[in-house]
Amino acid sequence: MNQEDKFKSVISHAKEYGFVFQSSEIYDGLSAVYDYGQLGAELKNNIKKYWWKSMVQMHENIVGIDTAIFMHPTIWKASGHVDAFNDPLIDNKDSKKRYRADVLVEDHIAKIEGKIAKEIKKAAKRFGESFDAEMFAQTNPRVAGYKEKIESIEARMKRCLDEGDLEDFKQLIIDEEIVDPVGGSRNWTDVRQFNLMFSTEMGSIAEGANTIYLRPETAQGIFVNYLNVQKTGRMKLPFGIAQIGKAFRNEIVARQFIFRMREFEQMEMQFFVKPGTEMEWYEHWKAKRLEWHLGLGIAETEYRFHDHLKMAHYANAAADIEFNFPFGFKELEGIHSRTDFDLKQHEKHSGKKLQYFDPETNEHYVPYVVETSIGLDRMFLATLCSALQTETLEDGSERMVLRLPKVLAPYQVAILPLVKKDGLPDKARAIIDSLKMEYMCQYDEKDAIGRRYRRQDAIGTPYAITVDHQTLEDQMVTIRERDTMTQERIPIDQLSEYLYKGLRA
Ligand code: GAP
Repeated sequence: MNQEDKFKSVISHAKEYGFVFQSSEIYDGLSAVYDYGQLGAELKNNIKKYWWKSMVQMHENIVGIDTAIFMHPTIWKASGHVDAFNDPLIDNKDSKKRYRADVLVEDHIAKIEGKIAKEIKKAAKRFGESFDAEMFAQTNPRVAGYKEKIESIEARMKRCLDEGDLEDFKQLIIDEEIVDPVGGSRNWTDVRQFNLMFSTEMGSIAEGANTIYLRPETAQGIFVNYLNVQKTGRMKLPFGIAQIGKAFRNEIVARQFIFRMREFEQMEMQFFVKPGTEMEWYEHWKAKRLEWHLGLGIAETEYRFHDHLKMAHYANAAADIEFNFPFGFKELEGIHSRTDFDLKQHEKHSGKKLQYFDPETNEHYVPYVVETSIGLDRMFLATLCSALQTETLEDGSERMVLRLPKVLAPYQVAILPLVKKDGLPDKARAIIDSLKMEYMCQYDEKDAIGRRYRRQDAIGTPYAITVDHQTLEDQMVTIRERDTMTQERIPIDQLSEYLYKGLRA
């Protein structure tokens, strides 16, 4: 299956089994807004719990908060979002399609990278086993030419973005002969800046309503509560404040399913540190966050770091953890060294001091901040993409299996009476009653047992318990493991412990 087909199968699987639905579907949907169904809500909650546990519960010096979506409008002036939270957009005059100019250039660079990969593949075929790909990439003149080209395009784009030189940005697109991906035309408008914040009115018009914004990141709710938390929690530097919540962005081009949405959720943590130590903590959190992803058992080759070319207006260092989505390596999480920009800006605009008294040095200062920020929906998509597999079994049949990390599975266990008579359903329900306080259990009595196993495989349930006639006599059940499909017979009274161990393995 090629990557495009793979992505299509992930999207249709998500819909067919109740993970993700298009928002307002019966009204033909709302662009780039999605609803999570009965299984999606469970998976999403489990990702949140897993993140919260590892960031808050496992760190004595990190606490979690939950702040409002609506905030004082001056916050967004102070944070720089009113003036600088823009994307460069460009329209194609023939197709009438709108694009992010930087994404057009990045896709163009990806094509050149594809040419490098092709050269390496060709050479590997020619030279056989003795081929040294790294050496080839360093010495081959054609590859060197491609690399040089990429570097010069990147440098020019960075300059255009940093200096707001939109004229030269358009010229870059023309010089590189970048065409409209839909129609192939080169008939472009000028590049313009587009602010991504949604706004609305608070209060009645008669009273003179105020324009307020739907937050485009959860981070500002943390910054404006920095002092509240530091004082009431008696927090000492370095310490972190974590939050999970909705964010809203009026994305110019919202595509690729739940990858780029207009309403989405973020899991963010701001780590407040002593000025001068921020680079150390930046490296620390880069490593820690990658470790978190790898802890879920997804292959290391599916992740890579990407250092930012264009830094957000608040950062002095920034890297993405990219995931190998079916449409290529793309940003999953950002780690940013935000300096003291946000707290200083809020001091300036609010007139309130947001400082820390360091008892070791007897000094007052504004802490620096290192941020980790991951999109919950993107994590959900990465998890689904890596988990969904089609396997050919020994007998030649195929099974669709969602090899979700066990800790994230919507249902941890299915309880299946072999037949729906002879007292087996009652026994199965009694087992559910004994397990449901601890585990999400699903009862299923419809169809042959093989088909029921397949249904559980398709939704990623790690364990299926079958209750048969023998169970009524010996109080034992068969437990089947999703990935290996191995079956074991164990006593009912050992189920809870078995699941506890298995789900943490
Ligand atoms: N507070 C920093 C911040 O918001 P960001 O890189 O703009 O940084 C952080 O966003 C993460 O939020 C991204 O890595 C991505 O996972 C997620 N994200 C951003 N925009 C998104 C969108 N339109 N749809 C879904 N997730 C998005």
